[in-house]
Amino acid sequence: MDQKKTEAEILRDLKEQFAAQYGDAEDVRFFFAPGRVNLIGEHTDYNGGHVFPCALTIGTYAAARRRKDDRIRLFSMNGKGDHFEEFSTKDLAQEGKSGWTMYPLGVVWAFAGRGMPLPEGFEMAIYGNIPNGSGLSSSASLEVLTGFVLRELYGLPVDLVELAKIGQYSENNYNGMQCGIMDQFASAMGKEGHAIFLDTADLSYTYAPVVLKGRKLVITNSKVKHQLTDSGYNDRRKTCEAALADLQRVVPIHALGELTPEEFEAHKDAIADEDRRRKAKHAVYENARTVQAVRELQDGNIEAFGRLMNESHVSLRDDYDVSCPEIDILAEEAWKLPGVVGARITGGGFGGCTVAIVDDDAVSSYCEKLGRVYREKTGIEADFYIVEIGSGPREIATP
Ligand code: GLA
Repeated sequence: MDQKKTEAEILRDLKEQFAAQYGDAEDVRFFFAPGRVNLIGEHTDYNGGHVFPCALTIGTYAAARRRKDDRIRLFSMNGKGDHFEEFSTKDLAQEGKSGWTMYPLGVVWAFAGRGMPLPEGFEMAIYGNIPNGSGLSSSASLEVLTGFVLRELYGLPVDLVELAKIGQYSENNYNGMQCGIMDQFASAMGKEGHAIFLDTADLSYTYAPVVLKGRKLVITNSKVKHQLTDSGYNDRRKTCEAALADLQRVVPIHALGELTPEEFEAHKDAIADEDRRRKAKHAVYENARTVQAVRELQDGNIEAFGRLMNESHVSLRDDYDVSCPEIDILAEEAWKLPGVVGARITGGGFGGCTVAIVDDDAVSSYCEKLGRVYREKTGIEADFYIVEIGSGPREIATP
């Protein structure tokens, strides 16, 4: 992960690139929105269950200003080729559009669909320091960032929860990824030092201080992203919907998240096949685990929290089928290391990252040993990142 550049360096580079691309940097404003890591509660957010993510201090930065014509000009400092593209506020249809610009454009499109079409265009340069495809929500951070930029540049009447909904809506309907609300909510509503205990059934939430008593959260990036990511995700969602429809014949629920594990066991035979049953089981048990994990954290039982993280991993691996060999190596080898309280896959799956709770004085040997085993088994050099829990989107004043 690019932790080498400081925020001041990022802003300086952005300003320079903005001026090079758009002629000058007069009146340009700077913004940031974070990525997220989910501590527990995976694949529960589209099943009306609970999640427990926190915002990171890495994310996506923007330099932006309004234009006086209809042009939307987008430039990225990340990636190779096709950095710059230009569009019109009058043509936001998905046809003929592709690549990273679909995220900011989808947000402009979603605002328009909510009765907030942009009166004029804008120009923006972005830079992200979350690795793409790592499961740390680079796309949600770009969506929330764009929504925040538009709100500030045009004075649009939307609060941060609405920005999260707009981000999710655009990702579902413009980009075709049927994600839940977790990532956008975590990015929009993040609070320094806290994780967000969110009930996706009604979007009620509380902030829980992440006090780990002499331990740290460590993210390990497997650096693999399997092809299946989006289609596999959408398939899981469909399978859960089918299981829900089966269950609704015998029990009056609106979402799998309404069932306790005991209720699930009592009614599970109504589910048509074994695959659906396993997926639904994960959704129900993971939700219960998340509620319990938050209670354990609040009571200071970090070991119990860690055990629930491990159980979450096993369930995502064996029942929900969203892990992969590389991620299993990272989690299972972590469990064997001294000072590791818990470790699991985080995010949508099919690659990406694990998150672990590690004793302070074991962090460096954790990175060294896990890095070595992973290299031996896969030939890949993993990246390690000690989590700092950051806040939601912000404008950054520059001198
Ligand atoms: C992706 C989605 C989220 C959530 C997670 C799995 O990150 O964007 O909505 O479903 O996967 O928990």
